[in-house]
Amino acid sequence: MTITDSPKPIDLQTGWPNPALLPAPILRHSATTVLSNPSIATPALLYGPDEGYEPLRTHIAAWLSDFYQPREPISSKRICITGGASQNLACVLQTFTDPVYTRNVWMVAPTYHLAARIMDDAGFAGRLRGIPEDDEGVNIALLESGLRGAEDNALRAGNTEPKLKPPRPWRKIYKHVIYAVPTFANPSGKIMSLRRREALVRLARQYDALIVTDDVYDFLLWSAKPEGPEGNFGDRACIPRIVDVDRYLDGGPQDGWGHALSNGSFSKLIGPGARTGWAEASEKVAYGLSQTGSSRSGGAPSHLCAAVIDQMFPTVIQNHIRDVLQPKYAEHYHTLLSAINEHLVPLGVTVPEPAATAGGYFMWIGLPAPLVAADVVRLAQSEENLRVSPGDVFQVPGDPHVTEFSDHLRLCLAWEEPRHLTEGMRRLARVLNRMTRTQV
Ligand SMILES: Cc1ncc(COP(=O)(O)O)c(C=O)c1O
Repeated sequence: MTITDSPKPIDLQTGWPNPALLPAPILRHSATTVLSNPSIATPALLYGPDEGYEPLRTHIAAWLSDFYQPREPISSKRICITGGASQNLACVLQTFTDPVYTRNVWMVAPTYHLAARIMDDAGFAGRLRGIPEDDEGVNIALLESGLRGAEDNALRAGNTEPKLKPPRPWRKIYKHVIYAVPTFANPSGKIMSLRRREALVRLARQYDALIVTDDVYDFLLWSAKPEGPEGNFGDRACIPRIVDVDRYLDGGPQDGWGHALSNGSFSKLIGPGARTGWAEASEKVAYGLSQTGSSRSGGAPSHLCAAVIDQMFPTVIQNHIRDVLQPKYAEHYHTLLSAINEHLVPLGVTVPEPAATAGGYFMWIGLPAPLVAADVVRLAQSEENLRVSPGDVFQVPGDPHVTEFSDHLRLCLAWEEPRHLTEGMRRLARVLNRMTRTQV
């Protein structure tokens, strides 16, 4: 097939929001309110507080309290405004790790691949370790054995205190970082069970690790059954975050710092161009984060954007999520899943067992042996003008005991319209059929 008669491109690789769902009219209204009112516009256009735009911190604290229903409401002192989850991950590593004293970054594998470069930049190249997950989430026994081994090595090497980061009252240097996307993971779509979350927090306390979670898909949830409940299905989270678990487990944190930080983001709810998010952690960690050099210098990032987004609180944002995003993405999800069941499952492709609740942006499918994801991706692009992600991309780079994901593909359900999701699965089925016949 030549490029001229190739079919319309279908992109299931790009993990971006659906363009038709970007709330431009709401933002235009919010921006007009902010910019036409000097009492809002002037402070929003100047440098702001280190912890971020105060009204938004207060609104986010109340919104998260409603959604996650933690045992104690969330105070605004636990919240910092950020430039999104990725920007904030860099700040967390700058402030709470020492590239020598902090032994390893443990990443639940398959992992959100773009986080790895941020770890690299913070001095952890070669010290990223992948910990595989099963249906319930991260393998705790493997993680524990890795942490124990790293501790033994550190003690043998005399690595007993931070080397490059001098003590500062606003920060604590942790011995380990554990990175996870526990709910509707990118790429696996899995939800880590509550008992694994609790086991993870206990391990983090025992080995002095900071668990950093990207909780960026939690609000995008719906019933896994196509005929599931409608209406307010998604006004409550399906499971506590790890940062919530750290607040209540075994009487709460052992010290004021705690061992978990949640990275939230408006990228998947409003649009990644906004590049605004929030972090939640203990008050001490939230304050410490605000003292990261780049925020200390003139205030938290995305200050004007935070003021605009704040106009969507308390109700407009949740209405947009409930009335627009959840039903539309649920439709995308069910369309993609039924197309996979119709066209790919008969060819030996596997889909994860659905939980009661589904959500997020991604579907992680297994290929029948002996097919290799990189070959499938290449042929899907050249023969069908279809883009999908090979599982290998989500391996933890530089891990000597790397877990292979070359028998998986990641499909994004958000970016393309439902009819293109169905057509995409027809095209993928043609590719798999041809490959199986010729045993590429
Ligand atoms: C797990 C995860 N974390 C972070 C991000 C990026 O978030 P932000 O745009 O807030 O940096 C993404 C986007 O795909 C993601 O999937």
